[in-house]
Amino acid sequence: MPITINKIQELKNAGEKIVMLTAYDYSTAKVVDEAGAHLILVGDTLGMVILGYSTTIPVTMEDMLHHIKAVVRGAKNALVIGDMPFMTYQTSPKDALRNAGRMLKEGGCQAIKLEGGAIMAETTRRIVGSGIPVMGHIGLTPQSIHQLGGHRVQGKTSDAAKRLLDDALALEQAGAFAIVLELVPIELARLITGRLRIPTIGIGAGPYCDGQVLVINDMLGLYTDFVPKHTKLYARMASTMKDAVSQYCDEVKSGAFPSDEHAASMDESLLKDL
Ligand code: KIV
Repeated sequence: MPITINKIQELKNAGEKIVMLTAYDYSTAKVVDEAGAHLILVGDTLGMVILGYSTTIPVTMEDMLHHIKAVVRGAKNALVIGDMPFMTYQTSPKDALRNAGRMLKEGGCQAIKLEGGAIMAETTRRIVGSGIPVMGHIGLTPQSIHQLGGHRVQGKTSDAAKRLLDDALALEQAGAFAIVLELVPIELARLITGRLRIPTIGIGAGPYCDGQVLVINDMLGLYTDFVPKHTKLYARMASTMKDAVSQYCDEVKSGAFPSDEHAASMDESLLKDL
């Protein structure tokens, strides 16, 4: 049964954990969907782990739409969320609504995510009011990396913690259906999760959030430029792939691949007059 935002709320209400992972292509989305994730985020991390940029800032609407379409084709049950790229929603609520609409109309996803707290409340209200589910994202917001001065834990002083709680409450009031808490101390993530009616989805925010998200290329050990401290390596795909590709290179060079079984054959006599 396809997952809806109502189901996501029911999971929180029932005290059941919500599972979210990123995906950027059809084959990976199929695996994530079949493995039972509730939510698939086509994150703007695609700029880093797929396109090779050093931040998420250069990602465009066209990049996102291209990948959202592929993921939507692979996801039969999970709810697919499209991440709004930098400067496609910060400029005005009107721009935000237009671009959020493109994500659903052209991309085919069921919800969008945007970064920012109270400052995004009006924009969130406008998008939700037009029938588009919005996931918030506070704490470390990678599109503001230059403003934040790097990948640092957020909300560590009591003032900063109060601001994050207020941000979360403002997004909930504006109609967001869930909020990502990124790089927030465990204690603060627990407090925010307890104060909100809607679910929190943590990344580097400890075990008390209502759900968890990881970047799939990180947890599979496929993106090796930088492994965040909060990532658990469930596999070492880059090294598995390298072994397989090295073996292929060796076998092609030596003539061990392909053997006859990897190709079609025909009656050779049919070639005699050629
Ligand atoms: O873009 C992304 O993948 C994200 C997750 C890290 C939550 O925003």
